[in-house]
Amino acid sequence: MTLDDFTSACSALAAEAPARIAAADSLDAWTAVRNDLVGRTAGRLTAIMGTLGEIPKEDRRVAGQAANAVKVELERLLDERQAELATSRGAGPQIDGTMPSRVTWQGARHPVTLVVDEIIEIFRELGFTVALGPEAEHAWYNFGALNFPADHPAMDLHDTLYLGKDTVLRTHTSPVQVRTLQAYPPPVRVLIPGTVHRRDPFDASHAPAFAQVEGLVVDEGITFADLKATLSHFARRFFGAGTKTRFRPSYFPFTEPSAEMDVSCGVCGGSGCSVCKQSGWIEILGSGLVHPAVLESAGLDSTRFTGWAFGLGPGRTALARHGIPDIRILYDSDVRFLEQFSR
Ligand code: PHE
Repeated sequence: MTLDDFTSACSALAAEAPARIAAADSLDAWTAVRNDLVGRTAGRLTAIMGTLGEIPKEDRRVAGQAANAVKVELERLLDERQAELATSRGAGPQIDGTMPSRVTWQGARHPVTLVVDEIIEIFRELGFTVALGPEAEHAWYNFGALNFPADHPAMDLHDTLYLGKDTVLRTHTSPVQVRTLQAYPPPVRVLIPGTVHRRDPFDASHAPAFAQVEGLVVDEGITFADLKATLSHFARRFFGAGTKTRFRPSYFPFTEPSAEMDVSCGVCGGSGCSVCKQSGWIEILGSGLVHPAVLESAGLDSTRFTGWAFGLGPGRTALARHGIPDIRILYDSDVRFLEQFSR
């Protein structure tokens, strides 16, 4: 064995090794390559080094250095590859960073919630705060305190869901009028959002559970003019500056006088369409001056204080605003419908 033969065996191994090490695509393959290249018993570098004794004495130092340089380089490449294999999934599926990500749905507020929040915002500017009350309500708050006569049909099992003899699922947010007046002395200006329940069939214009927003103002010297001015202002803020309002006489046991407010139909501009049933007007809310008997139920002196109240259904308000013909679509949770309202 000459020095030349020895060093060319070393360089041949050094030349072939990088590609083989790089091609090892699992830790098992890596171990096999390592054993073949530098393994102590069957490794090829070990075999080459075993021939060192056959080289003339004066060439051995140079030969030894050449073999050692190859050994250092191969071990460096092997260590590097081992670290790569340990942190990647080797031959498993590779990650394609250019692939578009999966579509994810981002949550958004419901169109009814958006209407409620907007109403609260408009009235907040006028000094109203928000009050809440229970959904499972004492029948007295739901009916008696609100001046319903004892034989009023609304109290019938047919219309109201009773949880017990004296407990109902509230049929409107008006009981919170009395609760608020009992808890806070006038002046009172509150907005009462909440869910209410009625034994109605689920059809295009009725839902068995739906949202309401109640408003209540009580102070000394409050008149019907305050009601009209405030609700007309609200209608223009909510439906647009050009919106017309009209008040029609109505009846509620807990207000006297009572009025329903209509707004000019924003879908057809008042000329008549399917949303306003060709009338040009859409009914938005019930309202009236708080009945003296209600003030007295809450323990207030009705000769000193007066007030007004209104109640509206934000679900129907959302339908009126967007020209949607069927209330059930609000409760279907169909993302294709709901996502149109996200803001
Ligand atoms: N509570 C009435 C209803 O549910 C609405 C209303 C509230 C009317 C306040 C007048 C005053 O229909």
